[in-house]
Amino acid sequence: MASISFIFFCLFTLFLIGSCADEKNCSQRINSGSSLSPITHNNSWPSSSGDFEFGFYRQGGGFAIGIWLVGSEETTVVWTANRDYPPLTVNATHVFTDKLLLITEQGQEILIANTTRTASFACMTDSGNFVLYDGDSDVIWESFEHPTDTILEGQILPVRGQLFSSISESDHSTGRFRLKMQDDGNLVLYPVNTEDTYIFASWATNVFGGGFKFHLYLSTTGLLSIINTTTSNSVHNLSGASTSAADNNQNSSTYRATLDADGIFRLYSHARDGNGKLRAPTRVWSALENPCAVKGFCGLDSYCTYYDAQPNCVCLPGTDFADPSSRTSGCLTNYTELGCRHGKENTSFYYITRMENMVWGGLPYTREEMTVEECSKSCLKDCNCGAALYKTGLCAKQKHPLIYVRRDIRE
Ligand SMILES: *[C@@H]1O[C@H](CO)[C@@H](O)[C@H](O)[C@H]1NC(C)=O
Ligand SMILES: *[C@@H]1O[C@H](CO)[C@@H](O)[C@H](O)[C@H]1NC(C)=O
Ligand SMILES: *[C@@H]1O[C@H](CO)[C@@H](O)[C@H](O)[C@H]1NC(C)=O
Ligand SMILES: *[C@@H]1O[C@H](CO)[C@@H](O)[C@H](O)[C@H]1NC(C)=O
Ligand SMILES: *[C@@H]1O[C@H](CO)[C@@H](O)[C@H](O)[C@H]1NC(C)=O
Ligand SMILES: *[C@@H]1O[C@H](CO)[C@@H](O)[C@H](O)[C@H]1NC(C)=O
Ligand SMILES: *[C@@H]1O[C@H](CO)[C@@H](O)[C@H](O)[C@H]1NC(C)=O
Ligand SMILES: *[C@@H]1O[C@H](CO)[C@@H](O)[C@H](O)[C@H]1NC(C)=O
Ligand SMILES: *[C@@H]1O[C@H](CO)[C@@H](O)[C@H](O)[C@H]1NC(C)=O
Repeated sequence: MASISFIFFCLFTLFLIGSCADEKNCSQRINSGSSLSPITHNNSWPSSSGDFEFGFYRQGGGFAIGIWLVGSEETTVVWTANRDYPPLTVNATHVFTDKLLLITEQGQEILIANTTRTASFACMTDSGNFVLYDGDSDVIWESFEHPTDTILEGQILPVRGQLFSSISESDHSTGRFRLKMQDDGNLVLYPVNTEDTYIFASWATNVFGGGFKFHLYLSTTGLLSIINTTTSNSVHNLSGASTSAADNNQNSSTYRATLDADGIFRLYSHARDGNGKLRAPTRVWSALENPCAVKGFCGLDSYCTYYDAQPNCVCLPGTDFADPSSRTSGCLTNYTELGCRHGKENTSFYYITRMENMVWGGLPYTREEMTVEECSKSCLKDCNCGAALYKTGLCAKQKHPLIYVRRDIRE
C-alpha cells in the first residue's frame, strides 16, 4: 500500500514539477570515494547530456565550487557552494565520501551539503540539480533546495525562500540584492540588509495569498509563475509560456531565471545550435527595464541616471565617491561642517544647487508650504538640511545621507 501511494505521489509531482525523473534516474552515478581538484582532468562531473557540470571553476584569482551551464561559447554559473568563502587555491580538493566535502590546501574540511543521513552516491542531473542519495536511492540533499541567484527549469523558490544576487557576473559571492518569496504570497525585490517592508521594495508581484502559501516556479517551457501551493494552480504568470514547437522536443531551449548583479530579476533562454550545444542566453522577460529603479543600485548620497541605456551613479553636489574604484558604493560629503549650532553661521561656505526631476527615498524631517526661493534659503540656513525636495508648493527637507536617489528623465 505504501509503495502504491508513493508511485502515485511520484507521478503527480512528475506531472506538476517535472523533476521526479531526475531523482530516480541517474544514468551516471558519482560513487562515494570520488574526488575533484581544480587543475587535473577530474575538475568536474558532467551531467549525462553534458549541459551542466559540477566542479571547480575559476573565480577571483582562485577557484570556487559550483554548477555551471555548459554553453557553446561561454559557461554560466548557476549555483555556488559556500559562495562567501574566499577563493580556493589549486591545491584544494573536493571529496565525496559519505558527505560532500571541500578540503582546503591547509587540510580544513568544509561541509558543502549538510545532511543527517549518509550519502552513498550522487548525481549531476540533466536539469542542473546536484543530488545526493542514500543507500535506498532516496534523495537526502539537492542543490535545487539551496538556490543562490538562479532557478532552473523544474525548480521552485519556496515559501520564505530568497535569491541573492551575485557581486558581479564573474564573482558569485553574495551581492547587494535579494528576491523574497514572502509568507504573504508576494514576491518582492529588496536590497540586502533591509527589512521586508514596502519602503525598501523596488519591485513586487503584489499578488497575495490571503492565508494560502505561494511559491515561484519555472517550468520546462519557460513559464515563470506564482503557484498556489494548496492547489498547485498558477495564480500569476510573470512570463508567457513558450509557444515554440522546439520546446516540446529534445532540442528545446533551456531556461533560467536569475537575480542579476544589477538587482533585476530576468528570465533567460539558451537555445541550441546545430550540434545541440547551448548558445549564449537571450533575455525573455525582465522584472524591470531600468536598473535606476532598483533601490540601492547607487549608494548613499549618489544618484542614478539612465543614459544611453546604461545606468550611471553620480555624486550629489558637495560629495565625492567613497571608493572611486566602485561607483555604486556611494559618496561622502567632501567638506567638514563649519560651526553650525544656531544655523549655518558661515553661509558663504554653503551653497544650493538646483536639480530637476530628482526622486529619492527616506522620509523628510519637515515638510512645509513655501515658495521655491524660501525653500532654498530655509535649507541653506538649517544645519540639518542636506537637501530639499520642492514639489507642488511643498518644501521637504532631508538630512544627509540621501538614499535611493535617481534622476527621472521623462521620455
Ligand atoms: C532515464 O535516463 C535515460 C538516459 O538518459 C533516458 O533514456 C530515460 O528516458 C530516462 N528515464 C526517465 C523515466 O526519465
Ligand atoms: C577521475 O574520476 C573518476 C571517477 O570518479 C575515477 O574513476 C578516476 O580514477 C579519476 N581519475 C583521477 C586521475 O583521479
Ligand atoms: C600545491 O602543492 C604542491 C605540492 O605540495 C606545491 O609544490 C605547490 O607549491 C602548491 N601550490 C600552491 C599554489 O600552493
Ligand atoms: C547542519 O544542520 C543542522 C540542523 O539544521 C544545524 O544545526 C548545523 O549547524 C548545520 N551545520 C553546519 C556546518 O552548517
Ligand atoms: C489557493 O488555493 C486555495 C485552496 O483551494 C483557495 O481557497 C484560494 O482561493 C487559492 N488562492 C488563489 C489566489 O487562487
Ligand atoms: C499561466 O499560463 C498558463 C499557460 O499559458 C495558463 O495555463 C495559466 O492559466 C496561466 N495562469 C494565469 C493565472 O493566468
Ligand atoms: C536535434 O538537433 C539535431 C542536430 O541539429 C538533429 O539532427 C535532430 O534531428 C534534432 N532532433 C529533434 C528531435 O528535433
Ligand atoms: C566637492 O565636490 C564638488 C563636486 O561634487 C567639487 O566641485 C568640489 O571641488 C569638491 N570639494 C572638495 C574640497 O574636494
Ligand atoms: C567662513 O569661510 C571662509 C571660507 O571658507 C573662511 O575663510 C572664514 O574663516 C570662515 N569664517 C568663519 C567665521 O568660520
